[in-house]
Amino acid sequence: MTLLRLHKYLAQCGVASRRKAETLIAAGRVQVDGQVVSEQGCMVNPESQRITCDGRVVRPMAKLVYILLNKPKGYVTTTHDPQGRPTILTLLPPMRERLFPVGRLDLDTEGALLVTNDGAFAHRVLHPSFHSEKTYEAVVRGAPDAAALQRLACGIVLDDGPTAPCSVKMLTAPSATHSRVRIVLHEGRKRQVKRMLAAIGHPVVSLRRTAYGRLRLDGLVVGKYRFLTADELEKFFL
Ligand code: URA
Repeated sequence: MTLLRLHKYLAQCGVASRRKAETLIAAGRVQVDGQVVSEQGCMVNPESQRITCDGRVVRPMAKLVYILLNKPKGYVTTTHDPQGRPTILTLLPPMRERLFPVGRLDLDTEGALLVTNDGAFAHRVLHPSFHSEKTYEAVVRGAPDAAALQRLACGIVLDDGPTAPCSVKMLTAPSATHSRVRIVLHEGRKRQVKRMLAAIGHPVVSLRRTAYGRLRLDGLVVGKYRFLTADELEKFFL
């Protein structure tokens, strides 16, 4: 049985600061099991007692969770798929928290995907003003020459407008049939890497996102995940 002071519980649940919670209690706005509790220092057991403030039940805030998943091909980055295909959530442990992916990867793209239950974090990551950096490695058909890669780097016109300048690097010695290209983007348009490479005549055969900002997959095996460290979170928006 966990007993704790009412004002502390209210603060833990994000209702107000501890001091403001004391004021709420003194003002008779807080009830425990239907009874107004206006004296300070009251101990409560949130597991068995119903605590309300202004008539609304007070519940603990969900724990915030931040995960880096190495998404495999064949998994959809939605929380539910009407066609019954496996979602990335099936790769994660069952949790009370309602998790969702931050942005999307195509069904046949693998690699770094952030998953969280923190809506404010996701909003900030995806907001165009953050310019989150995404690193992709694409295997393409043929061998783009330096001029074609330069066009990509400067920005090319797609059907939804010109792409912003980006960094492009050939990773393999050009071979006749396939080559590997690294692209670092600060945009996140639908199928952007595939459309960019198709536009220069080198369609993507397979695509992998190797890093999201400074978060790299490193040794994370395809299909596995890890929780971000406090240090990674702290540095994420720097
Ligand atoms: N660009 C693509 O074309 N596909 C992805 O999944 C991500 C970026």
